[in-house]
Amino acid sequence: MIKPHGADTLNPLLITDVAQRDRLIAEATALPSLLLSSAAAANTVMLGGGYFTPLCGFMNVADALSVAEKMHTVDGLFWPVPVLNLSNDISGIQGASRIALRDPNVDGEPVIAIMDVDAIEEFSAQQIETITEQVYGTLDSSHPGVAVFQAQGRQCVSGSIQVLNLSYFETEFAGTFQTAVEIRANIAARGWQKIVAFQTRNPMHLAHEELCRIAMERLGADGIAIHMLLGKLKAGDIPAPVRDACIRKMVDLYFPENSVLVSGYGFDMLFAGPREAVLHALFRQNMGATHLIVGRDHAGVGDFYGPFDAQDIFDQIPAGALDIEIFAADHTAWSRKLNKVVMMREAPDHEMSDYVILSGTRVREMLGEGIALPPEVARPEVARILMDHYQSEAG
Ligand code: ADX
Repeated sequence: MIKPHGADTLNPLLITDVAQRDRLIAEATALPSLLLSSAAAANTVMLGGGYFTPLCGFMNVADALSVAEKMHTVDGLFWPVPVLNLSNDISGIQGASRIALRDPNVDGEPVIAIMDVDAIEEFSAQQIETITEQVYGTLDSSHPGVAVFQAQGRQCVSGSIQVLNLSYFETEFAGTFQTAVEIRANIAARGWQKIVAFQTRNPMHLAHEELCRIAMERLGADGIAIHMLLGKLKAGDIPAPVRDACIRKMVDLYFPENSVLVSGYGFDMLFAGPREAVLHALFRQNMGATHLIVGRDHAGVGDFYGPFDAQDIFDQIPAGALDIEIFAADHTAWSRKLNKVVMMREAPDHEMSDYVILSGTRVREMLGEGIALPPEVARPEVARILMDHYQSEAG
Protein backbone atom coordinates (compact mmCIF):
# COMPACT_ATOMS: atom_id res chain seq x y z
CA MET A 1 0.00 0.00 0.00
CA ILE A 2 1.12 3.58 -0.64
CA LYS A 3 3.32 4.86 2.20
CA PRO A 4 2.08 7.66 4.46
CA HIS A 5 3.57 11.11 3.87
CA GLY A 6 7.09 11.46 5.29
CA ALA A 7 6.91 8.25 7.34
CA ASP A 8 6.83 4.49 7.06
CA THR A 9 3.76 4.15 9.25
CA LEU A 10 0.85 6.37 10.17
CA ASN A 11 1.21 8.58 13.19
CA PRO A 12 -2.29 8.94 14.66
CA LEU A 13 -2.08 11.04 17.82
CA LEU A 14 -5.32 9.68 19.28
CA ILE A 15 -4.64 7.73 22.47
CA THR A 16 -6.53 4.47 22.03
CA ASP A 17 -5.31 2.64 25.12
CA VAL A 18 -8.22 3.05 27.55
CA ALA A 19 -6.17 3.05 30.74
CA GLN A 20 -3.71 5.59 29.36
CA ARG A 21 -6.53 7.77 28.13
CA ASP A 22 -8.27 7.64 31.51
CA ARG A 23 -5.02 8.70 33.20
CA LEU A 24 -4.64 11.62 30.78
CA ILE A 25 -8.27 12.69 31.24
CA ALA A 26 -7.71 12.71 35.01
CA GLU A 27 -4.46 14.63 34.60
CA ALA A 28 -6.17 17.19 32.37
CA THR A 29 -8.54 18.29 35.12
CA ALA A 30 -5.58 19.75 37.01
CA LEU A 31 -3.86 21.40 34.04
CA PRO A 32 -4.17 25.00 32.88
CA SER A 33 -6.40 24.99 29.83
CA LEU A 34 -6.87 26.78 26.53
CA LEU A 35 -10.16 27.00 24.64
CA LEU A 36 -9.33 26.19 21.01
CA SER A 37 -10.64 27.89 17.91
CA SER A 38 -12.79 25.65 15.73
CA ALA A 39 -9.94 25.54 13.20
CA ALA A 40 -7.45 24.34 15.82
CA ALA A 41 -9.96 21.75 17.07
CA ALA A 42 -10.31 20.53 13.48
CA ASN A 43 -6.52 20.30 13.19
CA THR A 44 -6.55 18.27 16.40
CA VAL A 45 -9.05 15.82 14.92
CA MET A 46 -6.93 15.47 11.76
CA LEU A 47 -3.80 14.89 13.84
CA GLY A 48 -5.70 12.43 16.02
CA GLY A 49 -6.86 10.33 13.10
CA GLY A 50 -3.45 10.08 11.41
CA TYR A 51 -4.40 12.29 8.45
CA PHE A 52 -1.63 14.76 9.27
CA THR A 53 1.15 12.15 9.54
CA PRO A 54 4.03 12.66 10.29
CA LEU A 55 3.26 15.78 12.36
CA CYS A 56 3.26 15.44 16.15
CA GLY A 57 1.35 18.61 16.94
CA PHE A 58 1.02 22.31 16.20
CA MET A 59 3.62 24.33 14.30
CA ASN A 60 5.58 27.24 15.70
CA VAL A 61 6.05 30.63 14.00
CA ALA A 62 9.21 29.63 12.11
CA ASP A 63 7.61 26.47 10.68
CA ALA A 64 4.37 28.27 9.85
CA LEU A 65 6.21 30.96 7.89
CA SER A 66 8.40 28.42 6.16
CA VAL A 67 5.38 26.32 5.19
CA ALA A 68 3.49 29.38 3.97
CA GLU A 69 6.38 30.71 1.92
CA LYS A 70 8.16 27.53 0.76
CA MET A 71 5.76 24.67 1.46
CA HIS A 72 8.42 23.09 3.69
CA THR A 73 8.93 23.09 7.44
CA VAL A 74 12.26 24.39 8.71
CA ASP A 75 13.44 20.75 8.85
CA GLY A 76 12.50 20.21 5.21
CA LEU A 77 9.23 18.29 5.52
CA PHE A 78 6.95 19.06 2.58
CA TRP A 79 3.74 20.64 3.91
CA PRO A 80 1.36 23.04 2.12
CA VAL A 81 -0.70 24.77 4.84
CA PRO A 82 0.43 25.76 8.37
CA VAL A 83 -1.12 23.63 11.10
CA LEU A 84 -1.72 26.23 13.77
CA ASN A 85 -3.19 26.71 17.19
CA LEU A 86 -3.89 30.44 17.25
CA SER A 87 -5.46 32.27 20.14
CA ASN A 88 -6.03 35.81 21.30
CA ASP A 89 -6.26 34.93 24.95
CA ILE A 90 -3.37 33.07 26.50
CA SER A 91 -3.81 34.51 29.98
CA GLY A 92 -4.72 31.10 31.40
CA ILE A 93 -1.65 29.27 30.11
CA GLN A 94 1.22 31.78 30.52
CA GLY A 95 4.38 29.97 31.62
CA ALA A 96 2.76 26.51 31.54
CA SER A 97 4.62 23.61 29.97
CA ARG A 98 1.72 21.14 29.81
CA ILE A 99 -1.83 22.26 29.09
CA ALA A 100 -5.27 20.92 28.32
CA LEU A 101 -6.90 21.94 25.02
CA ARG A 102 -10.66 22.38 25.14
CA ASP A 103 -13.09 21.81 22.30
CA PRO A 104 -15.31 24.78 21.36
CA ASN A 105 -17.58 22.59 19.20
CA VAL A 106 -18.91 20.29 21.92
CA ASP A 107 -21.28 21.28 24.75
CA GLY A 108 -19.41 21.97 27.95
CA GLU A 109 -16.14 22.55 26.06
CA PRO A 110 -14.52 19.27 27.16
CA VAL A 111 -10.81 18.56 26.89
CA ILE A 112 -9.93 17.18 23.45
CA ALA A 113 -6.14 16.93 23.83
CA ILE A 114 -3.17 17.56 26.07
CA MET A 115 -0.25 19.58 24.76
CA ASP A 116 3.39 19.77 25.75
CA VAL A 117 3.97 23.43 25.06
CA ASP A 118 7.12 24.18 23.08
CA ALA A 119 6.51 27.89 22.71
CA ILE A 120 3.95 30.63 22.93
CA GLU A 121 4.92 33.25 20.37
CA GLU A 122 3.15 36.23 18.90
CA PHE A 123 2.86 36.63 15.14
CA SER A 124 3.31 40.19 13.93
CA ALA A 125 0.50 41.65 11.84
CA GLN A 126 2.91 41.49 8.88
CA GLN A 127 3.56 37.76 9.42
CA ILE A 128 -0.17 37.06 9.57
CA GLU A 129 -0.55 38.93 6.28
CA THR A 130 2.26 36.93 4.72
CA ILE A 131 0.65 33.64 5.71
CA THR A 132 -2.77 34.80 4.55
CA GLU A 133 -1.48 35.93 1.20
CA GLN A 134 0.61 32.81 0.58
CA VAL A 135 -2.01 30.30 1.67
CA TYR A 136 -5.22 31.95 0.47
CA GLY A 137 -3.76 34.02 -2.37
CA THR A 138 -5.59 37.12 -1.13
CA LEU A 139 -5.97 39.41 1.87
CA ASP A 140 -9.60 40.13 1.05
CA SER A 141 -11.65 39.53 4.18
CA SER A 142 -14.73 38.77 2.10
CA HIS A 143 -12.96 35.44 1.40
CA PRO A 144 -14.59 33.10 3.96
CA GLY A 145 -11.33 31.29 4.77
CA VAL A 146 -9.39 34.53 5.21
CA ALA A 147 -12.09 35.92 7.51
CA VAL A 148 -11.96 32.80 9.71
CA PHE A 149 -8.15 32.71 9.73
CA GLN A 150 -7.72 36.34 10.64
CA ALA A 151 -10.25 36.15 13.47
CA GLN A 152 -8.28 33.45 15.29
CA GLY A 153 -5.78 35.71 17.05
CA ARG A 154 -2.02 36.16 16.78
CA GLN A 155 -0.74 34.08 19.69
CA CYS A 156 0.81 30.90 18.34
CA VAL A 157 0.73 28.03 20.83
CA SER A 158 2.93 25.24 19.50
CA GLY A 159 3.96 21.79 20.64
CA SER A 160 3.17 18.12 20.45
CA ILE A 161 -0.23 16.79 21.48
CA GLN A 162 -1.94 13.65 22.72
CA VAL A 163 -5.50 13.49 21.45
CA LEU A 164 -8.21 12.21 23.78
CA ASN A 165 -11.24 12.16 21.47
CA LEU A 166 -12.30 13.10 17.95
CA SER A 167 -14.76 15.85 18.87
CA TYR A 168 -18.35 15.58 17.64
CA PHE A 169 -17.56 13.65 14.50
CA GLU A 170 -17.67 10.13 15.88
CA THR A 171 -21.11 10.59 17.45
CA GLU A 172 -22.74 12.88 14.89
CA PHE A 173 -21.43 11.04 11.85
CA ALA A 174 -21.20 7.47 13.11
CA GLY A 175 -20.67 5.19 10.14
CA THR A 176 -19.40 8.01 7.91
CA PHE A 177 -16.61 9.67 9.87
CA GLN A 178 -13.45 7.57 9.66
CA THR A 179 -9.83 8.08 10.63
CA ALA A 180 -6.98 7.54 8.18
CA VAL A 181 -6.18 4.43 10.19
CA GLU A 182 -9.66 3.03 9.62
CA ILE A 183 -9.68 3.84 5.91
CA ARG A 184 -6.30 2.18 5.38
CA ALA A 185 -7.62 -0.91 7.16
CA ASN A 186 -10.77 -0.84 5.05
CA ILE A 187 -8.77 -0.57 1.82
CA ALA A 188 -6.49 -3.41 2.90
CA ALA A 189 -9.50 -5.60 3.76
CA ARG A 190 -10.95 -5.00 0.29
CA GLY A 191 -7.61 -5.86 -1.30
CA TRP A 192 -7.62 -2.66 -3.37
CA GLN A 193 -4.30 -1.56 -4.86
CA LYS A 194 -5.25 1.47 -6.88
CA ILE A 195 -7.67 3.81 -5.13
CA VAL A 196 -9.00 7.13 -6.41
CA ALA A 197 -10.10 9.58 -3.76
CA PHE A 198 -12.83 12.12 -4.41
CA GLN A 199 -12.90 15.19 -2.20
CA THR A 200 -16.27 16.82 -1.78
CA ARG A 201 -18.14 19.40 0.23
CA ASN A 202 -21.33 19.12 -1.80
CA PRO A 203 -24.15 16.69 -2.41
CA MET A 204 -22.95 14.90 -5.51
CA HIS A 205 -24.60 15.97 -8.72
CA LEU A 206 -24.42 14.09 -11.99
CA ALA A 207 -21.20 15.88 -13.01
CA HIS A 208 -19.48 14.77 -9.77
CA GLU A 209 -20.77 11.21 -10.16
CA GLU A 210 -19.59 10.97 -13.74
CA LEU A 211 -16.22 12.46 -12.82
CA CYS A 212 -15.72 9.61 -10.36
CA ARG A 213 -16.74 7.04 -12.96
CA ILE A 214 -14.46 8.51 -15.63
CA ALA A 215 -11.48 8.68 -13.25
CA MET A 216 -12.02 5.13 -12.12
CA GLU A 217 -12.28 3.77 -15.65
CA ARG A 218 -9.34 5.68 -17.06
CA LEU A 219 -7.03 4.85 -14.18
CA GLY A 220 -8.16 1.24 -14.04
CA ALA A 221 -8.74 1.74 -10.31
CA ASP A 222 -9.98 -0.98 -7.98
CA GLY A 223 -12.21 1.40 -6.13
CA ILE A 224 -13.17 4.95 -5.39
CA ALA A 225 -13.05 6.55 -1.96
CA ILE A 226 -15.64 9.30 -1.76
CA HIS A 227 -14.37 11.32 1.15
CA MET A 228 -16.60 14.16 2.26
CA LEU A 229 -15.83 17.09 4.46
CA LEU A 230 -17.83 16.89 7.69
CA GLY A 231 -16.54 20.02 9.44
CA LYS A 232 -17.62 23.61 9.09
CA LEU A 233 -18.44 25.29 5.82
CA LYS A 234 -19.69 28.78 5.09
CA ALA A 235 -23.18 30.09 5.74
CA GLY A 236 -25.76 28.73 3.31
CA ASP A 237 -23.85 25.56 2.40
CA ILE A 238 -25.68 22.26 2.60
CA PRO A 239 -25.39 20.53 6.01
CA ALA A 240 -23.25 17.40 6.18
CA PRO A 241 -26.07 14.96 7.11
CA VAL A 242 -28.00 15.98 3.98
CA ARG A 243 -24.91 15.67 1.78
CA ASP A 244 -24.15 12.32 3.34
CA ALA A 245 -27.68 11.05 2.61
CA CYS A 246 -27.45 12.27 -1.02
CA ILE A 247 -24.09 10.61 -1.57
CA ARG A 248 -25.16 7.31 -0.05
CA LYS A 249 -28.33 7.24 -2.14
CA MET A 250 -26.34 7.90 -5.32
CA VAL A 251 -23.78 5.22 -4.51
CA ASP A 252 -26.46 2.66 -3.60
CA LEU A 253 -28.40 3.18 -6.79
CA TYR A 254 -25.80 3.97 -9.40
CA PHE A 255 -22.46 2.33 -8.57
CA PRO A 256 -21.59 -1.34 -8.67
CA GLU A 257 -21.55 -2.95 -5.25
CA ASN A 258 -18.21 -2.86 -3.45
CA SER A 259 -16.68 -0.34 -5.82
CA VAL A 260 -17.09 2.68 -3.55
CA LEU A 261 -15.95 3.44 -0.03
CA VAL A 262 -18.01 6.31 1.41
CA SER A 263 -16.48 8.13 4.35
CA GLY A 264 -15.83 11.56 5.76
CA TYR A 265 -13.25 13.56 7.68
CA GLY A 266 -13.53 16.12 10.43
CA PHE A 267 -11.99 19.31 9.15
CA ASP A 268 -13.30 22.82 8.58
CA MET A 269 -13.17 23.98 4.95
CA LEU A 270 -10.40 26.49 4.32
CA PHE A 271 -11.55 27.51 0.83
CA ALA A 272 -7.84 27.90 0.07
CA GLY A 273 -8.05 26.57 -3.51
CA PRO A 274 -4.64 25.38 -4.74
CA ARG A 275 -2.94 25.12 -1.32
CA GLU A 276 -5.90 23.23 0.07
CA ALA A 277 -5.82 20.90 -2.93
CA VAL A 278 -2.24 19.97 -2.04
CA LEU A 279 -3.26 19.39 1.58
CA HIS A 280 -6.16 17.29 0.29
CA ALA A 281 -3.74 15.16 -1.71
CA LEU A 282 -1.37 14.79 1.23
CA PHE A 283 -3.98 13.51 3.63
CA ARG A 284 -5.55 11.24 0.99
CA GLN A 285 -2.12 9.65 0.64
CA ASN A 286 -2.15 9.17 4.38
CA MET A 287 -5.50 7.37 4.21
CA GLY A 288 -4.14 5.05 1.52
CA ALA A 289 -5.37 6.56 -1.77
CA THR A 290 -3.06 6.41 -4.77
CA HIS A 291 -4.88 9.16 -6.70
CA LEU A 292 -6.96 12.25 -5.97
CA ILE A 293 -9.42 13.75 -8.42
CA VAL A 294 -8.82 17.48 -8.85
CA GLY A 295 -11.41 19.03 -11.09
CA ARG A 296 -12.64 22.50 -11.78
CA ASP A 297 -12.15 25.13 -9.04
CA HIS A 298 -11.20 22.51 -6.47
CA ALA A 299 -11.63 23.89 -2.92
CA GLY A 300 -12.31 27.29 -4.43
CA VAL A 301 -14.80 29.99 -3.56
CA GLY A 302 -16.23 32.87 -5.59
CA ASP A 303 -13.75 34.10 -8.19
CA PHE A 304 -10.70 33.98 -5.97
CA TYR A 305 -8.90 31.30 -8.00
CA GLY A 306 -8.61 30.43 -11.66
CA PRO A 307 -10.64 27.32 -12.56
CA PHE A 308 -7.54 25.11 -12.86
CA ASP A 309 -5.10 26.78 -10.42
CA ALA A 310 -5.58 23.84 -8.07
CA GLN A 311 -4.26 21.51 -10.79
CA ASP A 312 -1.40 23.79 -11.88
CA ILE A 313 0.06 23.94 -8.37
CA PHE A 314 0.93 20.24 -8.62
CA ASP A 315 3.35 21.12 -11.46
CA GLN A 316 5.12 23.55 -9.15
CA ILE A 317 5.71 21.30 -6.16
CA PRO A 318 9.05 19.48 -6.01
CA ALA A 319 9.19 16.08 -7.70
CA GLY A 320 8.67 13.33 -5.17
CA ALA A 321 7.17 15.67 -2.56
CA LEU A 322 4.10 13.43 -2.49
CA ASP A 323 3.61 9.87 -3.71
CA ILE A 324 -0.09 10.28 -4.48
CA GLU A 325 -0.92 11.42 -8.02
CA ILE A 326 -3.74 13.62 -9.16
CA PHE A 327 -6.34 12.90 -11.79
CA ALA A 328 -6.72 16.33 -13.38
CA ALA A 329 -10.25 16.62 -14.73
CA ASP A 330 -11.69 19.22 -17.02
CA HIS A 331 -15.03 20.90 -16.49
CA THR A 332 -17.70 18.21 -16.80
CA ALA A 333 -21.32 18.90 -17.75
CA TRP A 334 -24.31 17.37 -19.47
CA SER A 335 -24.13 17.64 -23.25
CA ARG A 336 -27.46 18.15 -24.98
CA LYS A 337 -25.88 16.91 -28.21
CA LEU A 338 -24.51 13.66 -26.80
CA ASN A 339 -27.07 13.12 -24.06
CA LYS A 340 -24.47 12.38 -21.42
CA VAL A 341 -21.99 14.05 -19.12
CA VAL A 342 -18.73 14.86 -20.89
CA MET A 343 -15.49 16.65 -20.17
CA MET A 344 -15.59 19.86 -22.17
CA ARG A 345 -12.11 19.52 -23.63
CA GLU A 346 -13.24 16.24 -25.18
CA ALA A 347 -16.15 17.87 -27.02
CA PRO A 348 -14.37 20.53 -29.09
CA ASP A 349 -17.36 21.04 -31.37
CA HIS A 350 -19.59 22.14 -28.48
CA GLU A 351 -20.67 25.69 -27.70
CA MET A 352 -21.45 26.61 -24.08
CA SER A 353 -25.12 26.56 -25.02
CA ASP A 354 -24.79 22.85 -25.80
CA TYR A 355 -24.35 22.13 -22.09
CA VAL A 356 -26.81 22.09 -19.20
CA ILE A 357 -25.03 24.01 -16.45
CA LEU A 358 -26.56 25.39 -13.26
CA SER A 359 -24.47 27.39 -10.81
CA GLY A 360 -24.57 26.41 -7.14
CA THR A 361 -26.45 29.63 -6.47
CA ARG A 362 -29.07 28.81 -9.09
CA VAL A 363 -29.46 25.28 -7.71
CA ARG A 364 -30.10 26.71 -4.24
CA GLU A 365 -32.57 29.25 -5.63
CA MET A 366 -34.49 26.54 -7.48
CA LEU A 367 -34.67 24.29 -4.45
CA GLY A 368 -35.74 27.21 -2.29
CA GLU A 369 -38.56 27.96 -4.73
CA GLY A 370 -39.62 24.31 -4.89
CA ILE A 371 -38.51 23.85 -8.52
CA ALA A 372 -37.26 20.32 -9.23
CA LEU A 373 -33.68 19.99 -10.46
CA PRO A 374 -33.48 18.66 -14.03
CA PRO A 375 -32.26 15.06 -14.49
CA GLU A 376 -29.33 16.40 -16.52
CA VAL A 377 -28.01 17.97 -13.32
CA ALA A 378 -29.01 15.64 -10.50
CA ARG A 379 -30.28 12.11 -10.07
CA PRO A 380 -34.01 12.32 -9.23
CA GLU A 381 -33.55 10.43 -5.96
CA VAL A 382 -30.79 12.85 -4.92
CA ALA A 383 -32.82 15.85 -6.06
CA ARG A 384 -35.69 14.63 -3.88
CA ILE A 385 -33.51 14.55 -0.73
CA LEU A 386 -32.29 18.07 -1.47
CA MET A 387 -35.79 19.32 -2.13
CA ASP A 388 -37.05 17.83 1.15
CA HIS A 389 -34.24 19.56 2.99
CA TYR A 390 -34.87 22.96 1.42
CA GLN A 391 -38.61 22.74 1.86
CA SER A 392 -38.28 21.76 5.54
CA GLU A 393 -35.93 24.72 6.01
CA ALA A 394 -38.43 27.02 4.34
CA GLY A 395 -41.25 25.68 6.52
S1 ADX B 1 -14.65 21.12 -3.25
O1 ADX B 1 -14.49 22.38 -2.55
O2 ADX B 1 -14.74 19.99 -2.36
O3 ADX B 1 -13.62 20.99 -4.28
P1 ADX B 1 -16.99 20.18 -4.71
O4 ADX B 1 -17.52 19.23 -3.71
O5 ADX B 1 -18.00 20.92 -5.50
O6 ADX B 1 -16.07 21.29 -4.00
O7 ADX B 1 -16.03 19.48 -5.75
C1 ADX B 1 -15.48 18.23 -5.55
C2 ADX B 1 -14.51 17.89 -6.66
O8 ADX B 1 -15.19 17.86 -7.91
C3 ADX B 1 -13.36 18.88 -6.88
O9 ADX B 1 -12.23 18.18 -7.33
C4 ADX B 1 -13.89 19.78 -7.95
O10 ADX B 1 -12.83 20.39 -8.66
C5 ADX B 1 -14.63 18.79 -8.82
N1 ADX B 1 -15.75 19.36 -9.58
C6 ADX B 1 -16.95 19.78 -9.09
N2 ADX B 1 -17.78 20.13 -10.09
C7 ADX B 1 -17.09 19.94 -11.25
C8 ADX B 1 -17.40 20.10 -12.64
N3 ADX B 1 -18.58 20.53 -13.05
N4 ADX B 1 -16.44 19.81 -13.52
C9 ADX B 1 -15.23 19.35 -13.13
N5 ADX B 1 -14.89 19.17 -11.85
C10 ADX B 1 -15.80 19.45 -10.90
